[in-house]
Amino acid sequence: MPQLQFHQVSKKYDDVVALDHVSFEVNDGELLVLVGPSGCGKSTTLRLIAGLEPLTAGTISIDGTQINTTPPKDRDIAMVFQNYALYPHMTVRQNLGFGLKMRKTPAAEIATRVTETASALGIEDLLDRKPGQLSGGQKQRVAVGRAMIRQPAVFLFDEPLSNLDAKLRVTLRDELAQLHKRLAATILYVTHDQVEALTLGDRIAVMKDGKIQQIGTPQEVYNQPANTFVATFLGSPTMNIVPPDVLRVSSEATQAGIRPEHLQLDEHGIAGIVTAIQNTGADCFLTGTFGEHSLTVRVPTTSTYQIGETIRVSPDTQHLHLFDKSGARITPS
Ligand SMILES: Nc1ncnc2c1ncn2[C@@H]1O[C@H](COP(=O)(O)OP(=O)(O)O)[C@@H](O)[C@H]1O
Ligand SMILES: [Mg+2]
Repeated sequence: MPQLQFHQVSKKYDDVVALDHVSFEVNDGELLVLVGPSGCGKSTTLRLIAGLEPLTAGTISIDGTQINTTPPKDRDIAMVFQNYALYPHMTVRQNLGFGLKMRKTPAAEIATRVTETASALGIEDLLDRKPGQLSGGQKQRVAVGRAMIRQPAVFLFDEPLSNLDAKLRVTLRDELAQLHKRLAATILYVTHDQVEALTLGDRIAVMKDGKIQQIGTPQEVYNQPANTFVATFLGSPTMNIVPPDVLRVSSEATQAGIRPEHLQLDEHGIAGIVTAIQNTGADCFLTGTFGEHSLTVRVPTTSTYQIGETIRVSPDTQHLHLFDKSGARITPS
């Protein structure tokens, strides 16, 4: 039985449709990432599960029990927010223990669980500090600890790493991945960051305009995107989408997709003029104009192309994606 089930859930704010018949399940011990651009309905999804808003239609169940009208405090969930939401006047110790205290947990048990949680997160030294005396990364560890200590059936994370600098984001992302494995916690994790989604998720659900576009493992959605939105949302630089004939592919499809890493330098390939060079250190990407179209190509970092030079490439047809006029994937028959 899935730990969390979202079935045909819709949410309207007056005439704004924030969620449109959304269905998904999070299995016991699974980390499902909900990823999509700003405004696609990610936070709304979490707010409905937490009971901060009523839903317009559909059902939400935790552990097989429908919770549509269960008061928020009786839902077995804990939420971690982007802005940490710590109590500024309380110490870390008090912040961690507060939820248990509200549930009338005996003081001795609270003390034990605070120690265990702090130790699991490596924040034992911070217990007597107040949030104002912590760095962003430390605050976020405390926020995670405050959720962990409750041992909820389901954890909800709303863009928890977005306020951190790039390096710390990667560190905390790896810590969260390890914590998830160690605790076998059931987690619904929301982010707009496709790299975070691909690296953290057991499965990922890609969302746009209040609708789920595709759910699958990171490999499935990256390698077999259901439509051009998913294809171009995941991966950086983004997948090239052009009419098939541009790639010398004969196909009924309206659009052909090829990722920069699947275009190879080939002296007999199609010719373009280099218009931009992006060297990231580990990789080098060239963008060129091929007739009326633009393609981005990954090339060896040792390559010496200059802007204005001619480049010839051909697609690795094993990795070609075909889409119809509406943008839906065409599966080769
Ligand atoms: N309280 C509200 N009143 C009206 N519209 C809202 C409210 N909350 C969210 N929305 C709208 O619902 C849509 C989804 O918002 P949200 O779930 O916050 O997106 P995300 O978290 O993916 O950025 C957006 O169009 C947003 O403007
Ligand atoms: Mg949001």
